[in-house]
Amino acid sequence: MTNAPHASPAVSSAKALQDQILAQSQALVEGENDPVTNAANLAALCWMEMPDISWVGVYFLHGDELVLGPFQGKPACTRIAMGAGVCGTAAATRQTQLVADVHAFPGHIACDAASASEIVVPILDGDRLLGVWDIDSARMSRFTEDDATLVAALMRIYVDSLKQTTRRAAHG
Ligand code: SME
Repeated sequence: MTNAPHASPAVSSAKALQDQILAQSQALVEGENDPVTNAANLAALCWMEMPDISWVGVYFLHGDELVLGPFQGKPACTRIAMGAGVCGTAAATRQTQLVADVHAFPGHIACDAASASEIVVPILDGDRLLGVWDIDSARMSRFTEDDATLVAALMRIYVDSLKQTTRRAAHG
């Protein structure tokens, strides 16, 4: 199952859509530093705005394993070892993995048989690896270098958000 066509018919170019996603991300995390909360909202935003994706979410580094965090899409594998699959490779190498055809990726972990291409971006706070951001598509070669740039920028917004002070909840 893929998500609905993105909800922004007014956005006419890929660049404009990327700028809009980044502006919306910044607004969504404003005044909130909780890592789960912000990952949940950023996954929901990607799901709404990125055309042709079948899964998006985070795996957090816990000890020496990647553990499933907030996501949109079908239920997924809960733990991935460092170096395993596309996610574990992105974590172990700290390099973005842009996979045009997941079936050609040695060790790819198929959480969803319909997945055809994938991008995984490491989430780094300086030298510290926090986890990876994973996006799948049922369409071959869905992701480009522009997507890699977009997701890297999204992850900088995410990591920066964790360092701000949380605005206290409003009371009555
Ligand atoms: N395909 C990933 C596993 C995670 S799911 O796609 C959500 C991998 O090979 O690491």
